[in-house]
Amino acid sequence: MLQKVDSSHQCDLAKWTDEVVHWRLDPPRNKIKNKMIKYLGSKRRLVPILGELFALSGAESALDLFTGTTRVAQEFKRRGAYVTAVDIASYSEVFAQCHIATDATGIDKDELQQSLEYLQSLPPKHGYFTETFCVKSHFFQPFNGERIDAIRDEIERAFKNTAFYPILLTSLIYAADKVDSTTGVQMAYVKNWSPRSYRPLELLPPTLYPGKGRALKGDATKIAKQLPKVDLAYLDPPYNQHRYFTNYHIWETLTRWDAPAFYGVACKRADSKDPSTKSAFNSVREMPASLSRLIEEVRAEVLILSYNNESWITLADLIEMCSVKGEVEVLSFEQRRYVGAQIGIYNPNGDRVGKVSHLHNVEYVLVAGPKDVVSPMARMLTNS
Ligand SMILES: C[S@@+](CC[C@H](N)C(=O)[O-])C[C@H]1O[C@@H](n2cnc3c(N)ncnc32)[C@H](O)[C@@H]1O
Repeated sequence: MLQKVDSSHQCDLAKWTDEVVHWRLDPPRNKIKNKMIKYLGSKRRLVPILGELFALSGAESALDLFTGTTRVAQEFKRRGAYVTAVDIASYSEVFAQCHIATDATGIDKDELQQSLEYLQSLPPKHGYFTETFCVKSHFFQPFNGERIDAIRDEIERAFKNTAFYPILLTSLIYAADKVDSTTGVQMAYVKNWSPRSYRPLELLPPTLYPGKGRALKGDATKIAKQLPKVDLAYLDPPYNQHRYFTNYHIWETLTRWDAPAFYGVACKRADSKDPSTKSAFNSVREMPASLSRLIEEVRAEVLILSYNNESWITLADLIEMCSVKGEVEVLSFEQRRYVGAQIGIYNPNGDRVGKVSHLHNVEYVLVAGPKDVVSPMARMLTNS
């Protein structure tokens, strides 16, 4: 059951039973679920709910300000929206250029398939990627690392400034993700090669959608107020100290292809220490004020905010922040935690060093906007 919470901050939130969650969150029409990277905080299971909320709002334009994998932005686009997808990460920008900005009707599928087959057939090459992530660290097996080096070099040489560039690069990152040897994040690799790391890298065409959209790389707190007004904005910021820049440093490097200096067992990028790579949303001191300002500044009729109970900020504070947009409705449900938490806690050598405290967290979706739009949205969603 979904439960409505009023703005008096009585946070007596009902939890969904697992049965209902499965029925709700895994409808068969969601074809995009397997074609993305493993990503902390990814809204894989929430996507159908967010898509339904989008449809119930009657929106035609949408903004996804912390787009990550772009899976929510993809759902809005699939439902016909003109979508702008924003993230601070370089790899997210590439995913957004591929799935959101690219109009599938302008892409020759046969030519794309031939390009993927050509890249797939390249001879292996021992370069920066293999040396750093397969020899000095063990994120990938060298036979796959050498193929990644060869393919990435060729994407840069032969496809830069073409419409295929972000599509091929997205395909390469997805393929690499399928054969990595981690528990989900790139702060460490497992001690013994993961079973999937033995599989050969396979390039597949990413899902493309008809229609145009926009991909932007940048800090949401700086970009938001410059963007045109949209019907619906979705905000899914980080809520704790775990930085995406370091958790996914390999995707950042594979995208930038800049062979950076690195440090530590995980060979993290040296510029991880640079303030320019940090986000206000990973700082307990800066995050509440940054989020509050952002909610005020984002120009949208309806605002949807994702939040979970592992954050520094309270639900009551969030409701208060969102009330600048009008009526606030809160939907809640239980969710299994990310893959790393399911498996356990490991040190950089891949040894299990601890148990996770709990395997479920509560996810909230706050919907804010004019009462005559937002209240029927929540009512129709709970009744549907
Ligand atoms: C919880 S994840 C979003 C997951 C996304 N909704 C999905 O389903 O894949 C948060 C995202 O915020 C991005 N991020 C962090 N700080 C940011 C900032 N200041 N501006 C824009 N994006 C930021 C991170 O790179 C990360 O991709």
